[in-house]
Amino acid sequence: MSGLTPPASPYEAGRTHCVDCVEGMRALGDATVDLLLADPPFNLDNKGRMFRSGRLALCQDMAWDQIDNGPWLAEALRVIKPTGTLIVFGSWHNVFDLGSRLQQANVRILNTIALVKTGGFAVSHRVLYERTLYAIWASPSGRDWCFDYGLLKRLSGRQACNVWPYTPPSARSHPTQKGVDVLERMVLMASRPGALVLDPFMGSGTTAEACLRQGRKFLGFEKSPVYAAAANARIHCLRWAADFAVQTRRAVSCPSAA
Ligand SMILES: C[S@@+](CC[C@H](N)C(=O)[O-])C[C@H]1O[C@@H](n2cnc3c(N)ncnc32)[C@H](O)[C@@H]1O
Repeated sequence: MSGLTPPASPYEAGRTHCVDCVEGMRALGDATVDLLLADPPFNLDNKGRMFRSGRLALCQDMAWDQIDNGPWLAEALRVIKPTGTLIVFGSWHNVFDLGSRLQQANVRILNTIALVKTGGFAVSHRVLYERTLYAIWASPSGRDWCFDYGLLKRLSGRQACNVWPYTPPSARSHPTQKGVDVLERMVLMASRPGALVLDPFMGSGTTAEACLRQGRKFLGFEKSPVYAAAANARIHCLRWAADFAVQTRRAVSCPSAA
């Protein structure tokens, strides 16, 4: 293959592409991503019932919430740079499967982060009320990963630990939408300004918002056309608001240029 230039990826950064993430990642080159932030389906559809916030809720017909973690993880590990890392969300439904697959692939697990929610749901009255989400932070190469120790220490007021308070967003356009502050913290922790962050399960675009706020490049995949459109609309609004703020500041500081 020497002398041949690999074809450019059809998936430009800065937006969410409506495509299955395995297909999307196959179009990316090896070792091209600095941080891969994944919030995959938790395989929650139990065809049954559960309690959510104290009320009975159905947890079924969630076709979007099913996934085999093998194929996407294999592609994810291929596209991450040797200095890059993976952060993957999970609940008890899928976190053991994810952890065991990463260990079988000889990936170095750096931390599990326990996200302690202000709310939660009880599956039944025979077990504990579940209030914890997890994120596994892992380095495929096992060396030279990016960790902004100093910034996390300043944000935490002391050496940062792996238990983070977590408030789910009050207004949501996706049933499992994550809070943007937790994603911003992850982006700050594990990437440098200008780094490329890939989210293969973009949902409503929370990772994109975190990247826009913190000066990182991003690329998203999302197989649902409805959520892909919602994520791109969110990105568009944020960019528009940022441009508007810049122009307003210019007009105020230099009225004759307005
Ligand atoms: C847990 S949600 C992500 C929520 C997101 N973090 C947010 O804050 O909005 C998972 C998303 O992955 C999408 N999805 C499921 N399987 C997929 C696949 N194979 N490729 C791309 N997206 C997929 C679902 O449609 C769903 O929107």
